[in-house]
Amino acid sequence: MSAFLRFIVLFLALFSASSLPELRNVDFSVATRPLALQYTLQRHGRSALRSLKTTDFWLFGTQPTPSNIAQAIWLLICGHGDAAHEVLLGVNETNLHVAEYAATHPTSWHQDHPLCDVNDLVHSLIHRCEGACIGEGGHSGFENAKYWAAGGPKEYTNFGYAASSVHLIHQTLLQWSSVHTPEIIADVVSTHSARRHSILASKGQRRHVVVAPGCWDPFAFIDFCSTAEQLGSVEQEQLRSLQEFELRLLLRYALLEQRDCDVEMLLSGEEQQ
Ligand SMILES: *[C@@H]1O[C@H](CO)[C@@H](O)[C@H](O)[C@H]1NC(C)=O
Repeated sequence: MSAFLRFIVLFLALFSASSLPELRNVDFSVATRPLALQYTLQRHGRSALRSLKTTDFWLFGTQPTPSNIAQAIWLLICGHGDAAHEVLLGVNETNLHVAEYAATHPTSWHQDHPLCDVNDLVHSLIHRCEGACIGEGGHSGFENAKYWAAGGPKEYTNFGYAASSVHLIHQTLLQWSSVHTPEIIADVVSTHSARRHSILASKGQRRHVVVAPGCWDPFAFIDFCSTAEQLGSVEQEQLRSLQEFELRLLLRYALLEQRDCDVEMLLSGEEQQ
């Protein structure tokens, strides 16, 4: 794609969320910091969105309204982890009462609010930031991160094949990582043979997932993040920049989604920033 066309596409993407600040000025380091979630909605039937100030909602006010994925990433960047988590599950400023009722009563909330694949990836990232803390379902953040990296209740099994939005994100991570974080690429890519991982499944069971050879391995990435403290300083630094890139990438994807984006487009935006 020509540089000019690329510029137009990016310009349109940023313009459509008109009050979005320039991404280069946004601090994405939240992706590397520990996150403590309170789960006030799930535990006490009180939405974390109630504690937000109206200024925290700037993304909600833009026209056209950005997807709830973009809104969730923005809330996460602003340090509102619980609000971000709720927004991913479908809570918004107009359905708080319904969400609070659904959190403590059996309803059709989950059927009414299906979660798309890219939503699952952001969900996974949020739980990964919880790290070893015990969170939803009595499982650690890392375990829940793998559950959502595999589509949550959709329970995907094979990674590295399908032409899907998840595959596109993974390919972009792989390409970026091979250029910018060469010291750790071997830890986050399956090598010559397919890699098998045992992960958390629905209802607390376990199951296996398989990552095709030479592909981005989202489960190995989560395991690698869990060893961050034992890494040398170069590896730690590269892991931090990879985690920040992943969050920037997901936000850019959420803003470009309707525009047939490809790896080149997702990476070209990166160069401009
Ligand atoms: C809030 O969520 C409901 C579904 O629960 C949806 O119908 C409505 O459009 C959403 N409102 C906004 C402003 O996103």
